[in-house]
Amino acid sequence: MHAAPHDAHDDAFDAHAAHDDASYDLLVVGSANADLVIGVERRPAPGETVLGSDLATHPGGKGANQSVAAARLGARTALLARVGDDAHGRLLLDSQRAAGADTVGVLVGGAPTGVALITVDPSGDNSIVVSPGANARLAPEDIRAAGSLLAASRVVSTQLEIPVETVTEVVRTLPQGTRFVLNPSPPAPLPAEVLRACDPLVVNEHEARYILGADASSGAPEDWARALLSLGPRSVVITLGAEGALTATPLNSPVRIPSPRVEAVDTTGAGDAFTAALAWRLGQGDDLPTAAEFAARVGASSVTRQGAQASYPTAKEVAPR
Ligand code: RIB
Repeated sequence: MHAAPHDAHDDAFDAHAAHDDASYDLLVVGSANADLVIGVERRPAPGETVLGSDLATHPGGKGANQSVAAARLGARTALLARVGDDAHGRLLLDSQRAAGADTVGVLVGGAPTGVALITVDPSGDNSIVVSPGANARLAPEDIRAAGSLLAASRVVSTQLEIPVETVTEVVRTLPQGTRFVLNPSPPAPLPAEVLRACDPLVVNEHEARYILGADASSGAPEDWARALLSLGPRSVVITLGAEGALTATPLNSPVRIPSPRVEAVDTTGAGDAFTAALAWRLGQGDDLPTAAEFAARVGASSVTRQGAQASYPTAKEVAPR
């Protein structure tokens, strides 16, 4: 059962709007963007112009994507984010509600809704430039004001299209026993207190290399996982695209998680679907490899359709093992 969606509020979180008995499987604190997508045969080199497909506008943003992905799978989900008072903001709110996610924590105003300019090539790979807009105005005080929402959530998941100080405030506000999941995308320097709270830290190869620097210049993902664990996270998941993922904890050897073979059409938002599914299943009591195996199937399903949120499967549509 989902909590009933509430109307968005003008620039203020209304703690009373959350049900007293509300309990969310997953609270996503993060970005919401309008994705402006153009298909291209190949990306332009510097100084070059190429022609592409008609422009498509989709609801996106790593936070909003995670929230929709989890809600479509059946998780009781809420989103804490900021959008502009504009058409893109309304597109994003509509998409959350259609998926069954609670928008009580979505703040409106302060700047235009974030925008992502996305090109997708024939192999389904994408390149993305984000203008953060309202996402950059999701402030630490917004997190403090949403204490009741955090307190009502089993797992809290964040990414880095909102300010790092805001993510740090999430960690500081997190009630005892609430699990914290971070996908540091796009990567940025992270305070030690944030790294120590991650359970897990979810990274792709690019993000792992950024965090580890020279330590990732050689070696296998198993070595990266051990190096990442030495920075403090309670657990680590490295996503490896079509190769699946790798899970690691301080007490167990790294475990490789396969991905089902699928025909990729558009990989946009596949990592967000993976992280959402992982975070939800961990909150439901799955161990890390079991949750990652399910998440890999959700991520694989999502690349078989165009767009980010539009591509996310329901529980019945998740790719088989
Ligand atoms: O991870 C995919 C997302 O990254 C897109 O939806 C885009 O908005 C950017 O945030």
